[in-house]
Amino acid sequence: MSMDRRKFLNLSGLGISSFTITGFIPKSIQTLNGQEPMNGQSTTLRNINPVVVATWDAGLAANLAAWKIIGAGGKALDAVENGVKVTEDEINCCVGLSGNPDRDGHVTLDASIMDHEFNCGSVAFLERIKHPISVARRVMEKTPHVMLVGVGAQQFALSEGFPLEPNTLSKDAKSSYENWLKKSEYKPVINIERKQATSQLDPSLMAPHKLSNGEWNHDTIGMIALDSFGNLSGSCTTSGAGFKMRGRLGDSPIIGAGLYVDNEVGAVVATGQGEDVIRVAGASAVVEQMRQGKSPAEACKFVVERIRRIKKEKAKDIQVCFIALNTKGEAGAYALHKGFNYAVHTKDGNKLFESSSLD
Ligand code: GLY
Repeated sequence: MSMDRRKFLNLSGLGISSFTITGFIPKSIQTLNGQEPMNGQSTTLRNINPVVVATWDAGLAANLAAWKIIGAGGKALDAVENGVKVTEDEINCCVGLSGNPDRDGHVTLDASIMDHEFNCGSVAFLERIKHPISVARRVMEKTPHVMLVGVGAQQFALSEGFPLEPNTLSKDAKSSYENWLKKSEYKPVINIERKQATSQLDPSLMAPHKLSNGEWNHDTIGMIALDSFGNLSGSCTTSGAGFKMRGRLGDSPIIGAGLYVDNEVGAVVATGQGEDVIRVAGASAVVEQMRQGKSPAEACKFVVERIRRIKKEKAKDIQVCFIALNTKGEAGAYALHKGFNYAVHTKDGNKLFESSSLD
């Protein structure tokens, strides 16, 4: 039996989803570039061949923008910023100014970014600015701070030349909010991200578009990348939980919870119920498991299991997912529940994978 075949069986036995550059490649769902999936094949890439990994179906389009940079020898930091800007620009339930509002009808955005030298920046509770990820990068590069919030974050963005956008809701968000107001129940729906319409994907390939009271109310685009210099970076950006209490922050702007990068070990980003990612310092916890020798997917699984232990019965009502990438360019993911997809772009193409999960 070949090494690759053994690796496939071992990983299958663990129920683990991973994308290993020199080993098992899980079943991919969809490609954006017309290339055939590489199911079960092995490929031989050098470790510093670039890799970019992003959350959800929207990650495919985001990866394409990131790959234009990283595939041409650019830096991971530039790739992860420009990749998620694509999603911030789309009509999307859960990212950018078209996202769902809080329960008072205001869209508030959270984002963070981190590079290979522990430089990091984030913004939270930011209103009326189109690209929070770029403001987070300016916080990182131009201030002595890591995090700016609310009015202060907006003032900083304006001082940096970001335009103030109109205080309006997108058509979808308005309709969703009006539906939500009928009952005013705070009830996030798991895997809601797969119901989002995105401008660059074929709608027939997506889960059915359906709006109902309280739906379309969660989540995050997260991206992690390894560049040809061997450097890792990560980003994440979200409008957070739809119909949240005014002032609520999720995990995405919190370094160590929604995002963490350690260039000696790996990069991790989280998506899902932010409160439950924060309580286990999720992204940092996954990095520490990789430091102990676990593969990216095993490390993600370890922390997902911790969340299930903590939440007990309530775990059935939440979704939490992690994607991870190590310094060798091996990527993996794990989710609490079925339905989480992640997109991986290497020199061999841009492909969507279904993550393994605890159910
Ligand atoms: N994971 C994004 C949030 O909970 O806001």
